[in-house]
Amino acid sequence: MKIRSLILVGLLIVGQSFAAEKEPWYSKQQVSQGERLFRQNCASCHGQNAEATPDWKKTDANGNYPPPPLNGTAHAWHHDLGLLRRTVREGGAKLGGQMPAFETVLSAEEIDSVIAFFQSKWPDDIYQRWAGRFESSELPSLGDIVVPANSSLTKLLRQRVGNAKIDDVQETSIKDVWQARVGNQYVYLLDNGKYALMGDLVNLETGRNLTEQSQGADVVETISEFSDEDLVIFAAKGETKAILNVFTDTSCPYCQKLHSEIGQLQEAGITVRYLPYPRGGKNGPGYETLRSVWCAEDRNQAMTDAKNDRFEGLPSGDCTQSAMIDRGYQAGNRVGIRGTPALVKSNGEKIEGYRPYQELIPQLLQQP
Ligand code: HEC
Repeated sequence: MKIRSLILVGLLIVGQSFAAEKEPWYSKQQVSQGERLFRQNCASCHGQNAEATPDWKKTDANGNYPPPPLNGTAHAWHHDLGLLRRTVREGGAKLGGQMPAFETVLSAEEIDSVIAFFQSKWPDDIYQRWAGRFESSELPSLGDIVVPANSSLTKLLRQRVGNAKIDDVQETSIKDVWQARVGNQYVYLLDNGKYALMGDLVNLETGRNLTEQSQGADVVETISEFSDEDLVIFAAKGETKAILNVFTDTSCPYCQKLHSEIGQLQEAGITVRYLPYPRGGKNGPGYETLRSVWCAEDRNQAMTDAKNDRFEGLPSGDCTQSAMIDRGYQAGNRVGIRGTPALVKSNGEKIEGYRPYQELIPQLLQQP
């Protein structure tokens, strides 16, 4: 019985993700035209099938990166179509990169076809993530140029921030203002990197918080590393209208309150995906209980029991789930949550803390 209902939940979730699948923006003709042009113009550096070299993260003696794979295994899918087009058109040379410019070699239509070709090599889940990220949430083309890792801007920044990882340096839509990710924060570089500004960049005309949108993209990436089997899922009743990811700790009062309203969320067509987030890490109050929940044969029941302070039925002792709880904790820290419950919409937008279901449901169902 239990197993049957688990399978059913699985099927429902799989079925729904197919329903939401996006068709490629390009046609078969574009792919075959693109294949020919790619082999002529790009394959010498990026490989016949855009696979390049597996060592694309290692710099050469001059500090330059080799051409990255474009087949979905590297970063190309982090960029929207506008940025991919611009990279091919303008290359990386003017920022100290090695990628040549193709604007005098290929027409706009031909550039689209080479992009279609390498995108056709992307695994389906990568394409779907890309399409979901840039189509549905009308993410701005924030960056128009990606700055190579060895540019003077990046170098200046590196001198000041010590060991923090710097990446995703991009031009913003504001002239001469650049955005860089430093660790899990964003900073803005002004006056050729002489000044750095930390804070949120907001477009007052549209009301969009561009910093949050960039962070949202990182959050989506982190969350999508968890499969449904990794988590405790309370599936929507009927059609899934929205997905809510929740970093939870069984011992936190507002997590318990949210859980007491989970039925209302499910009825409204919301699937809740619980990720474990032990407040206070390994020594925090919820760590052991979360591990028991993840060890339980029926995780949903165990989650409900634990959130109601009923511990008798929970499996005790160690099982192999510590790694999963640690992963949840690290993911939560990476996306910068400040407490539990931390709610994350499927576009990466965060809602810190508990919200009553009457308020939460409309917020989740509104179109992005
Ligand atoms: C001479 C070698 C070379 C050729 C030819 C070349 N590229 Fe590149 N490409 C690079 C390098 C190197 C980079 C990394 C950025 C830099 O150094 O400018 C890159 C970066 C890129 C990126 C950004 C990838 C990312 O992960 O951000 C795209 C997209 C791209 N190339 C597409 C193409 C296409 C399409 C063609 C053919 C029309 C092409 N390249 C031809 C060397 C090349």
